[in-house]
Amino acid sequence: MIKVLFVCLGNICRSPLAEGVFRQKTIEQDVGHLFHVDSAGTASYHIGALPDERSRAVVLKRGFELTHKARAFSAKDFSEFNYIIAMDKNNLNNIKRLMSDDTNSKVLLMRHFDMLAKDGEVPDPYYGDMKDFEHVYDILNRSCEVMLGYLMDELSTSGR
Ligand code: 4NP
Repeated sequence: MIKVLFVCLGNICRSPLAEGVFRQKTIEQDVGHLFHVDSAGTASYHIGALPDERSRAVVLKRGFELTHKARAFSAKDFSEFNYIIAMDKNNLNNIKRLMSDDTNSKVLLMRHFDMLAKDGEVPDPYYGDMKDFEHVYDILNRSCEVMLGYLMDELSTSGR
């Protein structure tokens, strides 16, 4: 089993969407049992909240739902998750600030897996409109597809 945590700032727009898109792909490919997927935010303003209604609308259109409740990222997540995937470089820096030397988790940017922009960030859509959320969905859909392939390869070579 591989445990994956997606992280953004508020844990209501990008990271719960990434969590939902990635989980949906594992279900569609019949490999859901091989993954534990979660999301968290580096800020704590929205703890307990459902994802932003615009993130929920984006996936409802595609036939699935987001039911995550926002929570704050904490140093304990390093001992729980194999992969910690940050949406942007600010999130990445905030995560790395809590990381100790003996951390085994791999901490990466989401768009590391985006063949169209490997150095890019997932833009914050919070102050935007549905067009911005659709753009975020496209990035996440592309990135999660590649990421799942990469992790499936890892599972088949490591025997985990
Ligand atoms: P997220 O978006 O980090 O993708 O969940 C945001 C959500 C809330 C805020 C900023 C970004 N906020 O300032 O409350």
